[in-house]
Amino acid sequence: MNKKTTPTRADSFSGHLDAANHVRGQSIYVDDLPEYAGTLYGRAFPSPVAHGRIRRLSLGAAEQLEGVVRIFTARDVPGENQVGNIVPDEPLLAEREVHYLGQPMALIVADSMEAAEQAAELIQVDIEELPAITDAREAFRRGQLLAGSRKFEMGDVEAAFAQCEHVFEGTAHTGGQEHVYLEPQGAYAVPREGKVFIHSSTQGPTQVQRAAARVLGLSMNQVEVDVARIGGGFGGKEDQASAWGAMAALAAHLLNKPVKYILSRHEDLLMTGKRHPYDSDYRIGLDENLNILAYEATFYQNGGAAADLSPAVLERTLFHATNSYYVPNARLTAHCCKTNIAPSTAFRGFGGPQGMFVIEAAIHHAARMLEVAPMEIQEKNLLRDGQVFPYGQVVRESEARPCWIENIERNDIRGLQKEVRRYNAENRLSKRGLHLMPVCFGISFTNTMMNHARALVHVYSDGSVGISTGAVEMGQGANTKMVQVAAREFGLRLGQVRIETTNTTRVANTSPSAASATSDLNGKALQNACGQIRQRLIQLIRQELRLYGSEEVQLLDNAVFVNGQRQDMEWKGLIQLAFTRRINLSAKGHYATPKISFDKEKEKGHPFAYHVFGAAALLCTVDCLRGIYTIDAVHIVHDFGSSMNVGVDLGQVEGGLAQGIGWMTMENLQHSTEGRLLSQTLSNYKIPDIYSVPKAVSVHFLGSEGSDFAIYKSKTTGEPPLMYGIGAYFALYDAILAFNPEAPLLYHAPMTPERVLGLLYG
Ligand code: MTE
Ligand code: HPA
Ligand code: MOS
Repeated sequence: MNKKTTPTRADSFSGHLDAANHVRGQSIYVDDLPEYAGTLYGRAFPSPVAHGRIRRLSLGAAEQLEGVVRIFTARDVPGENQVGNIVPDEPLLAEREVHYLGQPMALIVADSMEAAEQAAELIQVDIEELPAITDAREAFRRGQLLAGSRKFEMGDVEAAFAQCEHVFEGTAHTGGQEHVYLEPQGAYAVPREGKVFIHSSTQGPTQVQRAAARVLGLSMNQVEVDVARIGGGFGGKEDQASAWGAMAALAAHLLNKPVKYILSRHEDLLMTGKRHPYDSDYRIGLDENLNILAYEATFYQNGGAAADLSPAVLERTLFHATNSYYVPNARLTAHCCKTNIAPSTAFRGFGGPQGMFVIEAAIHHAARMLEVAPMEIQEKNLLRDGQVFPYGQVVRESEARPCWIENIERNDIRGLQKEVRRYNAENRLSKRGLHLMPVCFGISFTNTMMNHARALVHVYSDGSVGISTGAVEMGQGANTKMVQVAAREFGLRLGQVRIETTNTTRVANTSPSAASATSDLNGKALQNACGQIRQRLIQLIRQELRLYGSEEVQLLDNAVFVNGQRQDMEWKGLIQLAFTRRINLSAKGHYATPKISFDKEKEKGHPFAYHVFGAAALLCTVDCLRGIYTIDAVHIVHDFGSSMNVGVDLGQVEGGLAQGIGWMTMENLQHSTEGRLLSQTLSNYKIPDIYSVPKAVSVHFLGSEGSDFAIYKSKTTGEPPLMYGIGAYFALYDAILAFNPEAPLLYHAPMTPERVLGLLYG
């Protein structure tokens, strides 16, 4: 394989086109749009209990309040009162029952936000409370499932276990996680002659369009959704932006007035779904040489009160249940459990992290019992080309081992281990831990039919270019990458290309920007559109320059090149000429990932276009008196392929890492047994800040071949780095075991200081 150590190609740009506007506060989000005169404000009335039968909803006093225009309930919905996507189990506004605390029961519309807020205080409900369940295992015991259970199987698991020298079993838990995108959920809907125009903070403009049309009883061509950018999504706005878009649209359409509904941070924390908490059982079997022969895991996913994306998240848990390891005999079972918390939803990694944590726990458990370093078991079992994932896909271009080995060598991990041992021998109340975390993440929507995209390109007669795609910019740099693609395809500077808003009338039937697939899918569709226009231009150039042979014509550096020679024909002049010759300077491009499929009957197939690999070494120090800790350093070797934007990709790795460490160490989502979210403010739900992120982070670009399915062979970086954070749990555990070798066996994330203390002195 052709390995390069240089991180980037010469012609690539490194940076984020929104950066300057972001720091100046000039980037536009939904709440920054100028308001139309007469704009009204929406606010949902949330269920005060987690589960119950609605006896009465009394709106009288609220309706009388000055400034209140209307209060809508389920009865007012002209179309279908339904926003469930995979399963139609989620009413927009509650009908007879409520299933989680915070579930919208009514929509207040007033002439000011204050009036809407006050009206919410005046609504009276009489609800017959029913028992609430917040625990996935408990829900499973009662048979409360949101969708069918799934099982992936490979090899002969029982026969393999019978042959194993060592078998260990246990349980693991990972908690939920709040997205805390900077921009809360919300939408601004404007009626337009029987049609509704929605500005929405969504990763999925088409999802919002479809949901609003369904709720209003309109066809999709009567709803237009527009997104300039969103202030973060992290999966939270893949499907869950739909309800707010539909509410704003409902009110706007029925009142014939512009209606805006932007959630306060408190409403957002209370009413929207989060990462799925998981409870899992594992059994791992190894031979005398530490080869993993068999692995069995059962996952109980806490899906919350409605299916939302849970069945798809569940599926990805199974896909990533063996992480970067080859497991010849595997039985992986997953249950999608219905509980009375807000419907759990997509969150960076989409179930993958939850699956990976369990096999890392199983390996850690085995290593502890066998008195070897977890690294020994991990390294031995890393995936090699030609091996098979439990779902049937054959491993190709595996960078699992190259990333791992490069990390160990480059960062002198053996030396660090010695250093840690020395430190731990010399210090009684302060201990260090070191852990290596490999990651293997599949790229493509696991639902094959979602892997397609389109783009629209206009070259204006002055030579400037305007592009539209289905990609939503959420901070991850998708727009920057799109501009890079168009500029590169036409041989222009970035400043000559303008990216337009993501709009359902320009680019229709889009998949949400998710699954880390945005730049690959939309970038390739855009490449296709630009290619069509380029072909037309090249044909014109051939005619003009009377080229009838095999001359190579290229558009580079704002000019025409023939056989590598710059011609006396500039881009601008070329476009003017093309315009006078009545050549079509617009094109619509399409791309659908080839060669992917998955058979859900057999649970086998080739679901992913490619995999992203990497390995992170995490070093921490634990204060063994107080249970607090620091993550001192993280060294990463990541498989970027051939990065098309080093700055953006580096930002994704660093951001993902911080978010993963937050999930694993400090973000402690808690519900009371009655289903009340206890961590409902940012003062009692701690997220990483500048003080808690690792003191030092190094990222080495493994210059791998890349993949033809990645745009310009630049592998996507959106989600995979989050899972490096899983290493923080085990690095901390390592330090704890240095202090208390008898510490209980506990795979229960997050590793909060309370939990650290429990292990230090347990
Ligand atoms: N980075 C920023 N800054 N903001 C985000 O909301 N979302 C993450 C990741 N990185 C996110 C982000 C998630 S969940 C996904 S799926 C990908 O970006 C989506 O973008 P991509 O497909 O372009 O990688
Ligand atoms: N990843 C993210 N979002 C999704 C997926 C996926 O695999 N499938 C459906 N939505
Ligand atoms: Mo990301 S969880 O696929 O939006």
